[in-house]
Amino acid sequence: MTKGQKLLNWVDERFPLSSMLKEHVTEYYAPKNFNFWYFFGSLAMLVLVIQIVTGIFLTMNYKPDGTLNGAGIPVAFASVEYIMRDVAGGWIIRYMHSTGASMFFVVVYLHMFRGLIYGSYKQPRELVWVFGTLIFLCLMAEAFMGYLLPWGQMSFWGAQVIVNLFGSIPVIGPDLSVWIRGDYVVSDATLNRFFALHVIAVPLVLLALVVAHLIALHEVGSNNPDGVEIKKLKDEKGIPLDGIPFHPYYTVKDILGVVVFLIVFSAIVFFMPEMGGYFLEHPNFDQADPLKTPPHIAPVWYFTPFYAILRAIPSFLGTQVWGVLAMGAAVVLIAFLPWLDRSPVKSIRYRGPKFKFMLVLFIVAFIGLGILGALPSTNARTVIAQVLSFVYFAFFLGMPFYTKNDVGSIPVPTRVTETNTKRKIQFAVLVAVTVVAATVFAMNV
Ligand code: HEM
Repeated sequence: MTKGQKLLNWVDERFPLSSMLKEHVTEYYAPKNFNFWYFFGSLAMLVLVIQIVTGIFLTMNYKPDGTLNGAGIPVAFASVEYIMRDVAGGWIIRYMHSTGASMFFVVVYLHMFRGLIYGSYKQPRELVWVFGTLIFLCLMAEAFMGYLLPWGQMSFWGAQVIVNLFGSIPVIGPDLSVWIRGDYVVSDATLNRFFALHVIAVPLVLLALVVAHLIALHEVGSNNPDGVEIKKLKDEKGIPLDGIPFHPYYTVKDILGVVVFLIVFSAIVFFMPEMGGYFLEHPNFDQADPLKTPPHIAPVWYFTPFYAILRAIPSFLGTQVWGVLAMGAAVVLIAFLPWLDRSPVKSIRYRGPKFKFMLVLFIVAFIGLGILGALPSTNARTVIAQVLSFVYFAFFLGMPFYTKNDVGSIPVPTRVTETNTKRKIQFAVLVAVTVVAATVFAMNV
């Protein structure tokens, strides 16, 4: 027995290391037909790690202090400038964190969309989805509070607009918004509590939810692009016929996704960290000024679809609460998908025309709302946003009706359909894309 094996035995007698690795990695059987949509779960974990690590280093020099320094600049704003200009490597840490925030949403939106097209939320994965929706809510809270920290104009006024929304809730609203801010306006007290929540409270909940998400997933096993339950057909050893061990097959495949992702991520960090004002909004390069309202206040791109819904709903009976309710409902409804979808099949491959049609409308509505939410509102834009909000809600609320008996012409197979040739072609295309992207990138550096 080698020294390494002896050490492992010693550990195993005290901690179930080998059995855990077996259960969740080397003998965890995943469907063999995962395609590129299945990269985004591991990529979300990667971005989570990037955010936590860069966040820790940012905290070493950032100061959550809204008071003015000797030069009349808020201390928090000045500390971010200090990180960008004077701290060794500070600029890259900060750009990784700000780019990471947007990329988190890119990755998570694609991850959720995969769930939508392959019906991954359907029985028996309802809890995987519900934990996922809670993660999404936490992520929104985390991004919103993080955005206040640089104490720029958009940080300040964005927080002002969103916290004021709570004020429109009947009876408790005004007191609630004062309670959230810790003051009558967004102030140093607000900055301090948002800092505490952003750096420790919400990340802890987020991590716990990700663990719950993965435990729930491993309990039932992954879905796949065919929506076939691989656990139903096993060989004499109890191994799913269409399953392959997560390690080495998917660890290696996920590394390919990581490489492509890191190329895109680095290209943004090094060449266009502001992303034309979408990842870092231009008014946020001005320090927060409570006496100067920016002419156009818009949230960061990942919130704009929901912001457009908020603005589309007119005030009624003297209160704006309807818009707030609609915006909240737009997020909460996502959690109910497992019970709204009554289709007998999971994957879009075997669904009928009604679902496909509604899905296309939904994509148009979501992107359209996203664009409108970033623009100043006009009468015409408000009408378009109202129509698109209607489509958004119709997709969810109409689902029990249009998915019932909506099956396609091809029946769901009993085994997954991917052929080895198709997989090899897919793999070759992915490798080619990586090589081209890496070459272009290397030529630019
Ligand atoms: C921090 C954010 C998240 C992380 C780190 C994460 C991580 C993962 C990982 C590693 C997997 C397995 C690999 C894969 O299927 O891609 C997975 C699967 C899944 N996730 Fe997430 N996830 C996150 C957010 C979400 C959200 C917001 C939703 C939906 C609202 C969601 C829904 C799902 C579903 C339904 C599956 C199973 C997919 C299938 O088997 O087809 N996840 N997640």
